[in-house]
Amino acid sequence: MMIYTPGPTDVPPRVLRRMARPITNPDLDPAFAKFYESTQGKLRRLMKTRNEVLIMSGEGLLGLEAAVASLVKRGDKVLTVTNGVFGDGFVDFVKMYGGVPVVVRGAYDEPVDPGSVSAALDAARDVEVATFVHCETPSGVLNPLREVAAACRKRGVLLIADVVSSLGGTPVETDSWGVDVCLGGSQKCLSAPPGLALASVSERAWEVVRRRGDSIPAYYASLWQWESWWNKRRLFPYTPSVSDICALDEALDVVLEEGLPRSFERHKRVSELILSACRGLGLRPYPKNDACHSPTVTAVKRPAQVPEAKLLRLMEERYGVMIAGSWGKLAGKVLRLGNMGYNARPYKAMKAMRALERALNDLGFEGGA
Ligand SMILES: Cc1ncc(COP(=O)(O)O)c(C=O)c1O
Repeated sequence: MMIYTPGPTDVPPRVLRRMARPITNPDLDPAFAKFYESTQGKLRRLMKTRNEVLIMSGEGLLGLEAAVASLVKRGDKVLTVTNGVFGDGFVDFVKMYGGVPVVVRGAYDEPVDPGSVSAALDAARDVEVATFVHCETPSGVLNPLREVAAACRKRGVLLIADVVSSLGGTPVETDSWGVDVCLGGSQKCLSAPPGLALASVSERAWEVVRRRGDSIPAYYASLWQWESWWNKRRLFPYTPSVSDICALDEALDVVLEEGLPRSFERHKRVSELILSACRGLGLRPYPKNDACHSPTVTAVKRPAQVPEAKLLRLMEERYGVMIAGSWGKLAGKVLRLGNMGYNARPYKAMKAMRALERALNDLGFEGGA
């Protein structure tokens, strides 16, 4: 089965092989700490940052929760910019940790307007932290991170940005754009298995974490634990997932050997290929225009006459390709192909599109919806 979903993706054989090597005790073996540091170095190159970067055991959401838990205290107003499922999730995390979300809401099918973020920041002068999602994977919309980061930086507001499904597939310049907490995941454009949250944390953000220390109401989701164990003593706050980190290290090698500009170009090309093939089948893209369609995930409207569950089952069982529906408000309305990471290759895209065409034909869909 080819996993053509927007994370996890198919995992390259060399990454799978690396995962199968014997493990060590990462808490006791000094060689592991050295290895972890070298993986951090690769992650810095990917994220374009000189900040401390963390590899946490838990999926992408752990990074989002840890950022909010660590930087938002009870009663803090937080600018939560949202035009999708994960932006809405940030609103929930802020409430969960006692913060007061000041919500800037945009339509799900178009990018956030940076002007609306600047205006909201000017109107709410007591905001110190903002949250933002670069690629809203459930809708396939790519948001203007660079512009929103500039608006935050200009006003001294700390920015938490989710780049989980864009990192590695389209430019993310953590330091030069001014992203304070930049959050990635292992299973999207890096095509490593799921299980790791990646975070770069700026000095300004560490200062907040140090001020709050033990008062952060979390353990796994507290950056203070990383500050007091890893940053200060080169010890881990909990036993790291050795095999997952080995896989991540190999996946980072794959991306860095190719080079980021080439990876971005490949994602763009394959995304255009899939979009035009979808149109050829009579499917309509979900995002309002192609300019805001993320090069890492393709989201199309489900034709009314095609039952989603049947389509997905046919694709898997008859044609050996797994694609995805969507989540939240988009559940049942949107079909998604994960043309990210290892999957962003023309032959894989064509295999996915052939399977989609056949399954649609089997269900009597002839296009033109
Ligand atoms: C934009 C975005 N943020 C966060 C997450 C959460 O990542 P995970 O599923 O690894 O917890 C996802 C997963 O799909 C995502 O697409």
